[in-house]
Amino acid sequence: MPNNYQELVQHWAAELTQYSTEEAENLVNWLLEHHLGLRRVDMMHFLKEEDLPEALQLDFERLKSGEPIQYILGKGPFYGREFWVNEHTLIPRNETEELVHLIIKKNPRAGLKILDIGTGTGCIPISLDLEMKTPEVYGIDISDKALEVARKNGESLKSNVSFLKCDILTEMPNVRELDILVSNPPYVPESEKSEMHRNVLDFEPGLALFVPDEDPLLFYKVIGAKGKQLLKPGGKLYFEIHEKFGSEIKELLTGLGYKDVKVVKDLNGKERIACARN
Ligand SMILES: C[S@@+](CC[C@H](N)C(=O)[O-])C[C@H]1O[C@@H](n2cnc3c(N)ncnc32)[C@H](O)[C@@H]1O
Repeated sequence: MPNNYQELVQHWAAELTQYSTEEAENLVNWLLEHHLGLRRVDMMHFLKEEDLPEALQLDFERLKSGEPIQYILGKGPFYGREFWVNEHTLIPRNETEELVHLIIKKNPRAGLKILDIGTGTGCIPISLDLEMKTPEVYGIDISDKALEVARKNGESLKSNVSFLKCDILTEMPNVRELDILVSNPPYVPESEKSEMHRNVLDFEPGLALFVPDEDPLLFYKVIGAKGKQLLKPGGKLYFEIHEKFGSEIKELLTGLGYKDVKVVKDLNGKERIACARN
């Protein structure tokens, strides 16, 4: 029986067998702080396991089942802010923060017109809207349920992004003369399902993740081609990409007539971002 906060963390973390010890302890700390709303130092004196709120115990059961903590808490961090998430949206990822950071760093001008395709929680356009100088920002998605979450994030974070429904594979977005087109589209080939963690497969929406094995660059082809019409001359295209497809995407964008096509490595040294100029 754990007698103090630290022992409780270790005791619960040991039950999260699908995670490393460090990850498991971080998750348990995250859950405890969420429910108990206390700083860790205040919790050291406290706590018998049976005194913990029932809601916390129920959430811990969900964590044990492999459910990502962001879905359990209904929110997750992205670029310094908290975003609502649910089963209809992908959980925002660190690589995507790097994409957002690159766009902010490379585009200091005020008043840029920006479109994000496949917006999910709206984490990309809302962060750009709040970090850049007076931009005009749009986000589109095929999923009504994801758009509901994106709009809720826009309201709670006081951002002015306009969210619109659009199936990019069959429709042309009604937003032209763009300075920046950005997308983190679905890009995982179906055949990679077997290599993926259960907590992604069982909980995150397939619509946000997967593409057919026979056409893994489907979204890049369509968005790259439509981008030629959506972007102003000189406007910029930014993609998050699958680390295996950097050279194919470079070739694709060059073939479509984009200039300055580059593939950029993320902090882990993987080719995860492509950018180009119209
Ligand atoms: C990889 S997720 C990215 C979500 C978010 N931008 C992020 O970075 O966390 C891809 C998104 O594309 C959307 N999507 C899938 N097919 C689409 C389509 N045909 N047209 C528009 N959006 C689509 C999914 O609903 C999902 O929200």
